[in-house]
Amino acid sequence: MAWFRGVGLARFRRYRPSRDFGNLYIHERMLADEVRMRAYREAIAAQIRPGDVVVDLGTGTGILAILAERRGARVYAIDHSPFIDVAREVAARNGARNIVFVEVNSRAFTPPEPVDVILHEQIGDDLFEEDMVANLLDLKRRTLKDTGRILPGAFELFLEPVQLKEEFRVPHIWEPRHDGIDFSFLADRRELDRYRHPGYPYSILGGWAVDRLLCDPEPALRFDLNRMRDPGELQRAVRATRTVTRAGRMDGLLLYFTVIFDETTRFETSPVQTRTHWTNRLFRTPARAYAAGDTVRYRLSLDELTSARRWELTLV
Ligand SMILES: C[S@@+](CC[C@H](N)C(=O)[O-])C[C@H]1O[C@@H](n2cnc3c(N)ncnc32)[C@H](O)[C@@H]1O
Repeated sequence: MAWFRGVGLARFRRYRPSRDFGNLYIHERMLADEVRMRAYREAIAAQIRPGDVVVDLGTGTGILAILAERRGARVYAIDHSPFIDVAREVAARNGARNIVFVEVNSRAFTPPEPVDVILHEQIGDDLFEEDMVANLLDLKRRTLKDTGRILPGAFELFLEPVQLKEEFRVPHIWEPRHDGIDFSFLADRRELDRYRHPGYPYSILGGWAVDRLLCDPEPALRFDLNRMRDPGELQRAVRATRTVTRAGRMDGLLLYFTVIFDETTRFETSPVQTRTHWTNRLFRTPARAYAAGDTVRYRLSLDELTSARRWELTLV
């Protein structure tokens, strides 16, 4: 059932970080996200010590750089967006004097001294689309002390079978409804391919749209940037077998993730936890009822890591 793969995506919008983050509203949403902010505040308080040299990769409004500076760190705050002028102004108005702001892409930045902590929030809705893995491992290799660390460094990616709430569900066109009018020929792959939009297999939702998770969650993928040297070490092919614990209709597999700072501080974008500003991508599957004890098996290949639209998900 590999038909719900993305097709012909080249025409579609590529990720444009400086344009996307030049918009004040996205920064307002990130600052308003208490789940996110609480975790960063806690982790910075626990992990950053006076005298530490910190690089804040992608400083945005400067919020993380300022929190680190208040811990007594010397901070290099970098961003490739001209929005960094806002961060510079915020720091000046809030008496944060120990921060050097540089408008630069991380790939072109080398601080004048070795680094204790690379602080970042390079976390996209689909986890990888800000090129977090390659950017952070590049900066780590070139600047981090052997004793240094990336904060946050560990992540878990989930793809969980879900039933949506009825009002958020968009049934496939061939499902029997519509006053008995028959659309069933469109269930045929060749017919469907003539009409479907490249984004057809996916929809972008918030946790509010989810009625239930059908299984007890298990990460499809785990990785720790503090243990990795090269993006090639990241697993790109996942096979999962999941047992249904809550009977229901599977409408698709929902992407969310956990961000792990240390043993005590983490947060997740799960639909059954407190809502964050991150959205969830639903990999739609044909609606199917599952009983408790049934299994859901899927294969996922993440060849093009930074574009989840190009990931290939196959129910097996
Ligand atoms: C998700 S925002 C986080 C902003 C801020 N750190 C916060 O937590 O509110 C990511 C920021 O990283 C910047 N950015 C992304 N990739 C970058 C790179 N490779 N080098 C420099 N800045 C980058 C973007 O312009 C954006 O401002």
